[in-house]
Amino acid sequence: MMLRSARFVLSTIRAQSRLAQRPICVRMYSVEKPSWCLTTWQNAARRNLSIRFASSAVAAKPAANAPSGSQHPPSGRRDLPTTNANEREVFIHWDAGAWSKFHHLWLRDHCRCPECFHPVTKQRLVNTFDIPPDVEPVSVESQPQGLHVIWPAASQPHASLYPWSWLKQNSYDPPAPSEPSEKVHWGAKIVQDPPTVGYEEVMAEDKRGLYKWLHKIDKFGFCFVSGVPPTAEATEELSTRIGFIRETHYGKFWDFTADLARGDTAYTNLALPAHTDNTYFTDPCGIQLFHLLSHTGGTGGATLLVDGFYVASILQELHPEVYELLSRVPVTAHAAGEEDILYRTTRPVLEHSPATGELVSVRWNNDDRSVLRGVPPGSVLQWYDAVRKWNKSLTSPDSEYWVQLAPGTAVAIDNHRVLHGRSTFTGIRRMCGAYIGADEFHSQLAVLTERFASRNDGWEGKRSVWSHAF
Ligand SMILES: [Fe+2]
Ligand SMILES: [Zn+2]
Repeated sequence: MMLRSARFVLSTIRAQSRLAQRPICVRMYSVEKPSWCLTTWQNAARRNLSIRFASSAVAAKPAANAPSGSQHPPSGRRDLPTTNANEREVFIHWDAGAWSKFHHLWLRDHCRCPECFHPVTKQRLVNTFDIPPDVEPVSVESQPQGLHVIWPAASQPHASLYPWSWLKQNSYDPPAPSEPSEKVHWGAKIVQDPPTVGYEEVMAEDKRGLYKWLHKIDKFGFCFVSGVPPTAEATEELSTRIGFIRETHYGKFWDFTADLARGDTAYTNLALPAHTDNTYFTDPCGIQLFHLLSHTGGTGGATLLVDGFYVASILQELHPEVYELLSRVPVTAHAAGEEDILYRTTRPVLEHSPATGELVSVRWNNDDRSVLRGVPPGSVLQWYDAVRKWNKSLTSPDSEYWVQLAPGTAVAIDNHRVLHGRSTFTGIRRMCGAYIGADEFHSQLAVLTERFASRNDGWEGKRSVWSHAF
């Protein structure tokens, strides 16, 4: 390192920059705030800093994979990720050739210092629209805790520190690999080892058992709870472990027999083919919880469960054109069995995430299907052929899991994935249960995942502003 005249070095860089027709960055040592940092000569000149230059700092060879425009060496210690910056982006070398690029604007918008992000409410405070679109850092530096960036500001320069793990997790160029799905698709063989947890552990105060239950519901699309007291009160309490009970035209918590108290075949003793509930809602209930409290003076009434994701995956493999049609053609469903309600919604049978393209929802109840409209005339017979194949796969012995529920065993079902039904029955069957919203279920699962999932070893009992969840 050697001391030179700042004016001399800046003019040399300016000349090289003109030659290269782009700003050239320099590694400089700020005497005002003693540290090494990267900056463009414009920023150094703008700030009129007292600076010392490292002899190797000017126009160094760009790093391998560096974006065009990066003309400076990485800063920081050997064991830290190294950083470069050009006029638009910061470039981070992780290790072994892995790298990420972040736009300056993106970084400034994501500062999570207490001025820019509320530490309690976890809401953005920085005014995104006050940030100049061409904002450029005064300095960028690798520090043990993360990427340290100084931003220009009218009064005092603004400092941001982005933890390395947060940057890695939120890399968008290239995108960070998504976590592999833990969902297990199942067929009839699930009968050998159906997912089950005990009532006592689900109700335990530390919520580890609750996490186990919700994790299994997420993984398999359903999970039994054994040892539940056969009362409506205990079942209601169990339901609220997941979240708020969702009130609908069927009421809040149901406790019913086959008396047609509501205008729906669920309130009869008819057999019900595999279906999802609320196909007529824009947001069908997320979780459905059932508990058979008693069955006297008759037989039948076995419960049917079918993994819609499993059936869809089979269809996608054997009949991709059917899968495509069911994903594309919207179908209208209605609930009109009572004079004071008329719910209608039009959606395809298979819905995919706009963000990831993965299958996120199966919506199927042939009994609630309205008039088939909106299908191009040339595709009507094709559509009937497609749902015939869908139905054949749903009702195949390979897909159907039949179970005779008994008082004491409740079941929670992911209504966006697993279809349910039942066989006909005789006698008096008293059933209770509830709907819980998909958002409540996912929130509770996310909270408990934050606390108990093994991948969150760093959890310290409090959510950080750098949580990977938001
Ligand atoms: Fe149902
Ligand atoms: Zn900030």
